[in-house]
Amino acid sequence: MKGVFPLDKFRSLPTPFYYYDTDVLRNTLAAIHRETIKYPNYAVHYAMKANVNPKLLSVIRESGLGADCVSGGEIHAAIRAGFSADKIVFAGVGKADWEINLALEHGIFCFNVESVPELEVINELAAAQNKVAKVAFRINPDVGAHTHANITTGLAENKFGISMEDMDRVVDTALEMKNVKFIGLHFHIGSQIMDMGDFIALCNRVNELQDKLEARCILVEHINVGGGLGIDYAHPNRQAVPNFKDYFATYAGQLKLRPYQTLHFELGRSVVGQCGSLISKVLYVKQGTKKKFAILDAGMTELIRPALYQAYHKIENLTSDDVVQAYDVVGPVCETSDVFGKAIDLNKVRRGDLIAIRSAGAYGEAMVSGYNCRKLPQSYTSAELI
Ligand code: LLP
Repeated sequence: MKGVFPLDKFRSLPTPFYYYDTDVLRNTLAAIHRETIKYPNYAVHYAMKANVNPKLLSVIRESGLGADCVSGGEIHAAIRAGFSADKIVFAGVGKADWEINLALEHGIFCFNVESVPELEVINELAAAQNKVAKVAFRINPDVGAHTHANITTGLAENKFGISMEDMDRVVDTALEMKNVKFIGLHFHIGSQIMDMGDFIALCNRVNELQDKLEARCILVEHINVGGGLGIDYAHPNRQAVPNFKDYFATYAGQLKLRPYQTLHFELGRSVVGQCGSLISKVLYVKQGTKKKFAILDAGMTELIRPALYQAYHKIENLTSDDVVQAYDVVGPVCETSDVFGKAIDLNKVRRGDLIAIRSAGAYGEAMVSGYNCRKLPQSYTSAELI
């Protein structure tokens, strides 16, 4: 089954471009709302890194989510889009001084701190601004996620977070500092996680660490379990909205949240992934010695996920219903890895056909590059093309 797209409108637009179905986005946000309203002490922050297109940000902000930022640029984008500063969390292993200062000036909700040297700098910069920075520690829970090695983050070997063994020492250090207030623990084990068992493993670890802290009479108000819920790349139409019900219910059932605590989430891909498609035109169909190539005007510069992670995205020929043939679908960039998919079944492809690369709303436009001096793609929403 192919997606439904406004083809007449597409034909007059210069390709390649990103197309966002705002109905899918709104349905997704409504599902998040429906599921989280059951748990009054849950707070969801949108992980800005997935997509900072202002047209999407305004819809996401209207739905009441907070923002999870990893750079000063993302803090600017969040504020510009109207996210309230007291719902912004700021993560990242390498926060620059200007970024910390910016976050302090805006009075963001919380810094997710990844090391003692970073904590010291935040304390110093907060003192200079005569402020107290609220901090959570990102603890590396040493929990593996069943996902691509490049997007798993919670293993001891990854660069992220503070090790469990160091937690007590780091908490003690923070408690002695005047210009930081220790308010929570932060975790994130990886992205595109479909197996709820991985989240259960995280919950078990959080429960252990909480018990350990409480034994030392240290109470934290906030637990942040990051993001990571995956989407169904194989069936963007059948499962346009991810399974938020099971996701939040897993945490409700497994994480021993104390009554005075808030549980925070940082969801990126599951919010915007399915609403976006990269729309491209076929430049040439080339018969190689062993196979046929469909050469598109979009490449790894517009969507790098297949080249970088061997990620699968469903590809559809929107303008043909002819007999299905197998093609290697490739981009124009001078790199062997500039391939969207090999031996992909498509309705017979001709020059000028419009191709949709689906489930590209997350980490698509946000990771665009100008390599080969290529023009950055435009974006359109379904609301704009009515
Ligand atoms: N919180 C933290 C601390 C993170 O590092 C991430 C993603 C998220 C939240 C949001 O995770 P999500 O809900 O989107 O899974 N470019 C890669 C994904 C990198 C994810 C990085 N961290 C990709 O295209 O698959």
